[in-house]
Amino acid sequence: MHEKKPELSDAMKKKVEPKNFTKNPILGTKFTIAVSSAKGGVGKSTFATNLALALKSIGCNVGLLDADIYGPSIPKMFDINEKPKSDGQKLEPVMKYNIQCMSIGFLADQQTPMIWRGPMVTSAIKTFTQKVNWKDLDFIIIDMPPGTGDTQLTFSQEIKIDGAIIVSTPQEVALLDVKRGIKMFDKLGVKILGLIDNMSYFIGDDGKQYNIFGEGGVKKTAEEFEKEFLGEIPIDPEIGKSGDEGMPIVEKNPEHVISRIYLKIAREIKNQYLKI
Ligand SMILES: Nc1ncnc2c1ncn2[C@@H]1O[C@H](COP(=O)(O)OP(=O)(O)OP(=O)(O)O)[C@@H](O)[C@H]1O
Ligand SMILES: [Mg+2]
Repeated sequence: MHEKKPELSDAMKKKVEPKNFTKNPILGTKFTIAVSSAKGGVGKSTFATNLALALKSIGCNVGLLDADIYGPSIPKMFDINEKPKSDGQKLEPVMKYNIQCMSIGFLADQQTPMIWRGPMVTSAIKTFTQKVNWKDLDFIIIDMPPGTGDTQLTFSQEIKIDGAIIVSTPQEVALLDVKRGIKMFDKLGVKILGLIDNMSYFIGDDGKQYNIFGEGGVKKTAEEFEKEFLGEIPIDPEIGKSGDEGMPIVEKNPEHVISRIYLKIAREIKNQYLKI
């Protein structure tokens, strides 16, 4: 006969209850928006950088925090090669395209493999959220690493996140991970602003729409979990090219059809939080 598993002690139950975590706001910021997805390579960093630029272009003061300690993307996507200044107490964010930026990639050599372990991730997050001189930000956009690991947990438990945006591609395999991500945020009491369907379709030279990775899956998942569906972003080689060049599409070509999609999403977010 199996032994009955011991019940969690009351102290332990309290520990995993999200409401018992003290969630600190990021100093110098009004609203913190996390761009996340449990799956890698779906376009989180692309979305985070372009959303930051779109919010800036409609008059918001914006910061961009690259929370990907293992594989930072912001130095490349914003073409930043300088190190942040420090007065010994606090780090100054690096200003690019009128956005205050911070990334582990500014501090470590891009070529150096980073063998960060759990405790170091936690201390890097503390530094980025409490020891950076973020100044008068309306929004700080956090570009999360893939997965539901240390970074997501530490942020969700210790930092006041005002909204999480979940980016997915339409494939079933991506959606499975998205569902995991939704459950994690729900459990940790983080409000999900909505889901984005990235690489949703492709418009061919013939003008026809090709749903390469399937159709409607992200929207359906949003409905299933009673979350907002924030929109579709098609596959466009310009998105990859501009990101690789260090000037994301919203900055490079604000009139581009993709930039307009970002601007629409940015306006909705601005209205929701700043109530203008
Ligand atoms: N809508 C799109 N159309 C074309 N290319 C895209 C689109 N969105 C993202 N990409 C490209 O896909 C690749 C992966 O994007 P990105 O680095 O933003 O993903 P990620 O989710 O942040 O990845 P990781 O999990 O590694 O952090 C990049 O080369 C990017 O330029
Ligand atoms: Mg990324």
